[in-house]
Amino acid sequence: MNTATEHTTYNYKVVRQFAIMTVIWGIVGMAVGVLIAAQLVWPQLNFDTPWFSFGRLRPLHTNAVIFAFGGSALFATSYYVVQRTCQTRLFSDTLAAFTFWGWQAIIVAAAITLPLGLTSSKEYAELEWPIDIAITIVWVSYIIVFMGTVAKRKTSHIYVGNWFYMAFMITVAVLHVVNSMAVPVGMWKSYSVYAGTIDAMVQWWYGHNAVGFFLTAGFLGMMYYFVPKQAERPIYSYRLSIVHFWTLIATYIWAGGHHLHYTALPDWTQSVAMLMSLILLAPSWGGMINGMMTLSGAWHKLRTDPILRFLVVSLSFYGMSTFEGPMMSIKTVNALSHYTDWTIGHVHAGALGWVAMISIGATYHMIPKVFGKSEMYSVGLINAHFWLATVGTVLYICAMWVNGIMQGLMWRAVNEDGTLTYSFVESVAASHVGYLVRTIGGAFFLLGMLLMAYNVWQTVRKGSKAPVASAAAQTA
Ligand code: HEM
Ligand code: HEM
Repeated sequence: MNTATEHTTYNYKVVRQFAIMTVIWGIVGMAVGVLIAAQLVWPQLNFDTPWFSFGRLRPLHTNAVIFAFGGSALFATSYYVVQRTCQTRLFSDTLAAFTFWGWQAIIVAAAITLPLGLTSSKEYAELEWPIDIAITIVWVSYIIVFMGTVAKRKTSHIYVGNWFYMAFMITVAVLHVVNSMAVPVGMWKSYSVYAGTIDAMVQWWYGHNAVGFFLTAGFLGMMYYFVPKQAERPIYSYRLSIVHFWTLIATYIWAGGHHLHYTALPDWTQSVAMLMSLILLAPSWGGMINGMMTLSGAWHKLRTDPILRFLVVSLSFYGMSTFEGPMMSIKTVNALSHYTDWTIGHVHAGALGWVAMISIGATYHMIPKVFGKSEMYSVGLINAHFWLATVGTVLYICAMWVNGIMQGLMWRAVNEDGTLTYSFVESVAASHVGYLVRTIGGAFFLLGMLLMAYNVWQTVRKGSKAPVASAAAQTA
């Protein structure tokens, strides 16, 4: 980056690095997603080699999209937001650079070890113990950089977006350390310190709160900065933001048991988890409504601003998936949905519709600013990306709803004499069309990401230069 566009007050270098990696890892993670989706349509794509098999590539997909793509978006936006809302430079440039290179090294380690079959077998925490230790070190450094910046802020109060970012990073640290406790028996093999039902409970306490804090609280922090900024309106209600922050934090942590309905987990624990999940609808919608209502008086901007459209549609998907989640946590509904593609549909309503779309919108907002350009190279391409992403998400989730409900109904159907009406393989055959539609939807979404990469590349190379604003003008 040429020094003429280097910001005098803020550290934009690390923001630029993470923003670019968000796009790159997004493409890699989603390309693997499209490949594994295609493997379920055409099993020959497993190529008869263990390294390319669905079982090994699936965790590669989840790690790449959640921690590489989502993680880079969270690092980029949090470093950007904290500097602008606290009107001060990052606490330490060296430590910030360490978090960038450390996080990238961890991602590369994941991309090598997972296809080799090295896994702890805990979902969303598959990486083996040496990598887990590296994650802890990088994560603690991240917390120091972020909280150190908040501590030396030049503003009197802490903007609500930063509250969400802080809750996300502190909780993820606790979740990661507790869930990854293991006894190593070799360089790439370890056993969890927990056993049996306790292991399952700790795992899903982690798993659900990874959703609640990694895939939700951090992205709400993003929402609280980028939606008002892009809409050029103040946040609808500061009071609502505080109320829904504390209720969200207090409720999420109790809901993990809904992943273990009808298992050896004590029945009352499952019921508490169901109740807490139902309550969770309220704070989740508090956040969604606060974001949506920020557009009061600015709805017309949606007609011309595709970046705002990404942000607002992401909020709609957030609202939808946080309505669906509580419904799926009801034990009788879960009896149908569990193990089926309905869960996969729910996951991607949140992952593509909410997480990916808000990250994409925020990245389009940030890229010209941190590269010293006036705007993105092509608004038309952002618009095309928006439609590809929206249609892709809808195709994906509709296909999985149809598949999921059909599978649930086929598995539970019994004949008059008590025998099963359908064999398992009949339900697999019936799911074929849905898998094809899902692959097409995923390919749409991936194509949109490729357009984004081209647009970002052209912006960085050619985009018209904005005057390098003074520190005062650049503060939030
Ligand atoms: C082009 C886009 C994508 C495609 C085609 C895709 C495809 C897939 C497929 C085929 C699976 C395995 C489903 C199964 O086991 O039956 C999966 C799982 C998963 N994906 Fe994606 N994905 C995409 C994007 C994303 C993104 C952006 C995220 C997160 C931000 C994400 C998060 C997940 C998660 C968490 C799972 C595991 C779900 C579970 O275990 O219930 N995916 N994806
Ligand atoms: C109020 C909020 C939410 C509640 C109560 C909720 C509830 C649920 C329930 C009941 C399941 C199915 C568990 C099972 O049968 O195994 C589930 C799965 C899942 N949800 Fe949600 N959900 C919520 C929001 C979200 C959001 C916003 C996302 C993504 C950003 C998300 C990501 C996931 C993932 C990744 C899984 C699959 C976990 C796995 O089995 O691997 N959820 N959720």
